[in-house]
Amino acid sequence: MNTVKIHNRSFDIYLESSKLDFAISNLAQRINADYGGKNPLFVGVLNGAFRFAADLMKYIDIDCEINFVKLSSYRGTESTGRVNNLIGLNSDIGGRHVVILEDIVDTGHTWDYLNEIFLPKSPASLKIATLLYKPEPYQSSLPVDYVGFEIPNLFVVGYGLDYDGQGRNLNDIYQIKS
Ligand code: IMP
Ligand code: MG
Repeated sequence: MNTVKIHNRSFDIYLESSKLDFAISNLAQRINADYGGKNPLFVGVLNGAFRFAADLMKYIDIDCEINFVKLSSYRGTESTGRVNNLIGLNSDIGGRHVVILEDIVDTGHTWDYLNEIFLPKSPASLKIATLLYKPEPYQSSLPVDYVGFEIPNLFVVGYGLDYDGQGRNLNDIYQIKS
C-alpha cells in the first residue's frame, strides 16, 4: 500500500519494512559489540515499541534480559508534553546496564522522565535505542544513543506507532499528508 487512511487522515508510505529490518539489524550489531559480557537489561516502552523490541531481539546474540514498561503521554498528533506514571518495572536495575527501547523520540519528555525514574535506582549505565528520532522537536539535553532513523517533524504511523489507537499493525511506516 502506498497510502493509508486512518481516522480520515491520509498517510503516505515513508519507510518500508525491508529498510526497517536493515536499520534494526545494524543497531543490534552495534549493541552486541557494545554490551557483550555486560548482560544488559533491555526495557521496552509499551505500546509503541512492541514491534521494534521484538525485531531487535532477533539480532541480539549476547546474554541479556528484556522487560517492558508502560506509560502514556500522547494524544492525537501532538505531544501534550505531559507524562503520566510508569508501570511494570519489576527487575532490580541496581548495577545493571539498562537500554531503553523506544519506537520514537519526539520532544524527549519521555526520555527525561525515564532518567528521573531510573537513575535514583543506580543502574551501571542508562542508554536509549530508538527506531525513530525527530531532532527538530527534541527539547532534552540528554544524548539519544542508538538511532535507527532521524526523521523530519511530521507525524508517522505504523510498525507499532499509532494514530489514536489505530495503525500499529501496519508493517511499514507512513508519514502524514499535509
Ligand atoms: P516524547 O516524549 O515527546 O519524546 O514522545 C514519545 C512518545 O510519543 C513516543 O514513544 C510515541 O509513543 C509518541 N509519538 C511521538 N511522535 C509520534 C509520531 O509521529 N507518531 C506516533 N506516535 C508518536
Ligand atoms: Mg512510545
